[in-house]
Amino acid sequence: MERRFGVGLDPDREVIPASGSKEAVFHAPLAFLHPSHERRGVAYGTPGYPVYERGTLFAGGETLPVELEEKDGFLLPIREIDPGKTRAVWINYPHNPTGAVASLSYLEELAAFCREHDILLFSDECYNDVYSGEAPPSILEVTKERTLAFVSLSKRSGMTGYRSAMMAGDEELVAALKRMRPSIGTASPGFVYAAATAAWGDDAHVEARNRVFTEKRNLFTGFFERAGLRWMQTNASLYLWARVPDEYGGDDEAYALRLLEEGILVAPGSSFGPGGGGYFRVALVPRLEACREAIERWEGLLR
Ligand SMILES: Cc1ncc(COP(=O)(O)O)c(C=O)c1O
Repeated sequence: MERRFGVGLDPDREVIPASGSKEAVFHAPLAFLHPSHERRGVAYGTPGYPVYERGTLFAGGETLPVELEEKDGFLLPIREIDPGKTRAVWINYPHNPTGAVASLSYLEELAAFCREHDILLFSDECYNDVYSGEAPPSILEVTKERTLAFVSLSKRSGMTGYRSAMMAGDEELVAALKRMRPSIGTASPGFVYAAATAAWGDDAHVEARNRVFTEKRNLFTGFFERAGLRWMQTNASLYLWARVPDEYGGDDEAYALRLLEEGILVAPGSSFGPGGGGYFRVALVPRLEACREAIERWEGLLR
């Protein structure tokens, strides 16, 4: 965090490891919410990663989904957060599924709103190291107060199978997690910590991975351009988010199924919740050769 964002952290008080960010996202609300609390709402954007909603429900919180819109660049609209109900807000930039990236000024505005209304700010930053060109910011550059950043090795280092991540930020929140998490049993084995230490200590493999992701991103955006598809501009995340062609009348499932017949796998936007309908998501995860072949088949379909 110091190398990448200039954010110094005390490893004893401001950081807690996790067995991947999914379990961290799912379990974190248990440390801060209770069904008996009057203000127990958790706001999160939709379309989005489904675990913000599930973690809230299992902790007895109230789900407060906020629809993200293309006109706002898929940034969670701060005006839609109800301070009377909201105990915590989730953001996730670079964003799954749209690839949206938040500016530092947006993060500043959101952090100021959360400070004013005593709202916890949870920032899922698992895609923060997957980018080309300008590096996406971290919420911890703005504040640690009432705030936690969730970071993972899964995307940065392609180490999904190791299940290794961390939460970092406000020391009181970290202390609460340290009291709660031993009840779950989420500690990683020593060899995973050893691998994680090596991976966090090395940026060369991250740069090499980013060169490949950039090539894939350029392949698909070049194709979208040639094909007249409309997509969301992005330089980060593993995803491209595009509009379903007009002739499908916004039916993203029908389009995804048609592509599947050609052996091309995209995710229909509606599978990410309200606001996702009419879009599809391309994940830049298969090897370059497979991406090239998908594009060739897709071009054949268009012809
Ligand atoms: C937005 C988001 N958060 C968290 C995760 C979980 O990643 P992991 O548990 O592998 O760290 C994912 C995985 O796809 C994701 O897309």
